[in-house]
Amino acid sequence: MNTARPKVLIIGSGAREHALAQALSRSARDPELLAAPGNPGIAALARTYPDVKADDVDAIVQLAATENPELVVIGPEVPLVKGVADRLTEHGISVFGPSRAAARLEGSKAFCKEVMAAAGVPTASHTVVKSVEQGITAVAARYPAVIKADGLAAGKGVVIAADAQAAREALTEFLVKHKFDTTQVVVEEYLQGQECSLFALCDGVNAIPLQSAQDYKRIHDGDRGPNTGGMGSYSPMPNIDSSRAAAITAQIHQPLVDEMRRRGTPFHGLLYAGLMLTPAGPKVIEFNVRFGDPETQALLPRLRSDLLGLLEAATRTGGLKGVQLSWDQRASVTLVLASHGYPESSRSGDLIAGTERLGPELVLTHAGTARDEQGRLRTAGGRVLAVTALGPDLPSARANAYAGAGEINFDGSQMRTDIAAGVRA
Ligand SMILES: Nc1ncnc2c1ncn2[C@@H]1O[C@H](COP(=O)(O)OP(=O)(O)O)[C@@H](O)[C@H]1O
Ligand SMILES: [Mg+2]
Repeated sequence: MNTARPKVLIIGSGAREHALAQALSRSARDPELLAAPGNPGIAALARTYPDVKADDVDAIVQLAATENPELVVIGPEVPLVKGVADRLTEHGISVFGPSRAAARLEGSKAFCKEVMAAAGVPTASHTVVKSVEQGITAVAARYPAVIKADGLAAGKGVVIAADAQAAREALTEFLVKHKFDTTQVVVEEYLQGQECSLFALCDGVNAIPLQSAQDYKRIHDGDRGPNTGGMGSYSPMPNIDSSRAAAITAQIHQPLVDEMRRRGTPFHGLLYAGLMLTPAGPKVIEFNVRFGDPETQALLPRLRSDLLGLLEAATRTGGLKGVQLSWDQRASVTLVLASHGYPESSRSGDLIAGTERLGPELVLTHAGTARDEQGRLRTAGGRVLAVTALGPDLPSARANAYAGAGEINFDGSQMRTDIAAGVRA
């Protein structure tokens, strides 16, 4: 008997992983999906393993060794930086995601800067410092100053300091109080312009761009308030069409992939360039080594190509050579619904109503949700749900997304009202 259904294990529990599961489930090869830990939304598409946490490398390896999937897709950065891809590869299991050595591009901002310099990739000028006084000297009284903890910090390791006092406070937090276990800090030039997320699929040799997206990091309208994991996104950016995306990839992603290959640590997986579109051209703010959240929720519903085939191709050296991606030409907008108190805290247990009222043209992805004993959906995290809509243009996609999100209610719900508003072509 031919059991041709490939088994795919997805690692992670957010809306990004739910969007990956949705896109993989559209594959013509009808994969059997597994997810660890997964969430209540993913559970509709995959067998979930709620006890296998995404940062527990041993548990992931054990599950993969038992289930023996054709492919493991790693959503978040923490297991990658811990070396989950190397461990799975040792067990002969294919994995979408970079090795520990290549994941250092996200795991250490100082290392990433060093590789960018070697590769000639445009980025903010910088100095790596190990003490507060070195940091103050490096800032050289230029404000705002950008101060970044070297290691992973779950989005809380960057301070844009308006003056010397704020700079000193940030340097002290990172270098003296050892917030995020960091022993060094990157002090860098402040860049001005529009931010753009551009992802590329990489096979160790080639970098194939996805379409552009923009995300909104601050909690409140008008980019006010503290940073979050991301409150919304849209795709594509009207000023970054496919040919511009290809040109940026040739200038930004490809040299980095070449340099990592030259070093004997080839990059396989998703290379995320966070860019500032400056008057002097695009400059890198940072690289991440996995799909972004919430850009992925806006991008994948537009992808017409078979995601499973692409992720598999990326695991093989040169496997993406000549690949052309096919896209839905419509625009998409993703709105995040966050819980009471987010991002400082998050309230769990609020009853979520209205998800069943979303029409088939809307895509709902779960992040911080849980089912109670009666099977009702409740909040269980900071970012709770994301709603994505397509439309013939950005304003219609935006109207569709807000109409859909308006159907969903829970106490304390927070949503920005200005996602994809006033975007100029
Ligand atoms: N050099 C810079 N100039 C201006 N803004 C910056 C700069 N570096 C970072 N930022 C801002 O800070 C945010 C977070 O920085 P980033 O390097 O992406 O760190 P992380 O995502 O790891 O928190 C960016 O999205 C951007 O808005
Ligand atoms: Mg970032």
